[in-house]
Amino acid sequence: MSKNFRVLASVALAASLAATSACSSTRDEPSSSTGGSASNLIGIAMPTRSLERWNNDGAHLDDLLKKAGYTTSLQYADNKVDQQITQLENMINQNPKVLVVASIDGTALGPVLEKAAKANVKVIAYDRLINGSPNVDYYATFDNYLVGKLQGQFIEEKLGLKDGKGPFNLEPFAGSSDDNNAKFFFNGAWDVLKPYVESGKLVIPSGKKIAGEEDWKTVSITGWKSETAQAEMDNRINSFYTGGKKVNVVLSPNDSLALGIAQSLESKGYKPGADWPLITGQDADLANTKNILADKQSMTVWKDTRTLGDQVAKMVDAIVKGGTVETNDTKTYNNGVKVVPAYLLPPVVVVKEDVKTKLVDSGFYTADKLGL
Ligand code: BGC
Repeated sequence: MSKNFRVLASVALAASLAATSACSSTRDEPSSSTGGSASNLIGIAMPTRSLERWNNDGAHLDDLLKKAGYTTSLQYADNKVDQQITQLENMINQNPKVLVVASIDGTALGPVLEKAAKANVKVIAYDRLINGSPNVDYYATFDNYLVGKLQGQFIEEKLGLKDGKGPFNLEPFAGSSDDNNAKFFFNGAWDVLKPYVESGKLVIPSGKKIAGEEDWKTVSITGWKSETAQAEMDNRINSFYTGGKKVNVVLSPNDSLALGIAQSLESKGYKPGADWPLITGQDADLANTKNILADKQSMTVWKDTRTLGDQVAKMVDAIVKGGTVETNDTKTYNNGVKVVPAYLLPPVVVVKEDVKTKLVDSGFYTADKLGL
């Protein structure tokens, strides 16, 4: 999709939301393109500003909803669970119609969501599922299992594992264990890679054993922190890669981890184009896209977060109007209390050769920003 087309599509979406908004007979006040009263308030709770994607996610959704005539309260919680809970409580006190929540800890929001339900506020889990609560009405996300599967298949293909090549030294990493997505990412990748670990074509010199259901947590990086991933990679290289042994491939679930892992490899003397390993990622963050162009990261799984915002804005509007909320998955996301109806968007693999066609031509980045 060209940049102009995307901009037009976004404007059209906002206009169509605004038009249906104005037509609604259930609203108790006239819609206004310059915002409205507290009774058409939509709360948006995002986890942190420290990761690029959440800034983009929040800004885009906020913009769409405002253009459609809603009043918004957009809050970031610095990855602190208590802060997010306080923000949600404050939002509920302002009597919003809907809360859109990208949770920090997917298991910690039960009590505050109970307050939301009592106040008749609907809840959409944004990108990350909220667990253990009956009061999650909808979930919008990318196909998280597919994200991991694409990473696993990329490794399988690039290493020629299907053709019997190997053995290769693999270091696996997983995301934050309090994030429900992390398990899906890891399982998607591991379902592809595990047979090669079992047949000895992938060897894990650090000795991390991932056999049981919950074993992925032994390689998880709390809070998705680059520094923690870097320190962990440093440790593994120092302890297990002596005597000229080299890392051939790193399964990294996302870009923030991939960034730390690349920094570690660089500090240990690995050279792009020479002995640099395959490294996977997710999000197409700016620094990582630059690393892909510089041969320091092999791929990223791009989730065009603008499409997630578009979908959530439509969900919000349908909830407020009492219309049908579009979902396309009513089986996968059991939060321990119920299966939450979800809308899953498709993730896309980006490698060096298609940074321009996928990320620049779609308007996600300008060529300038990437130094192209
Ligand atoms: C998101 C990823 C992101 C990670 C760290 C996950 O829940 O789906 O896109 O990289 O959190 O913020």
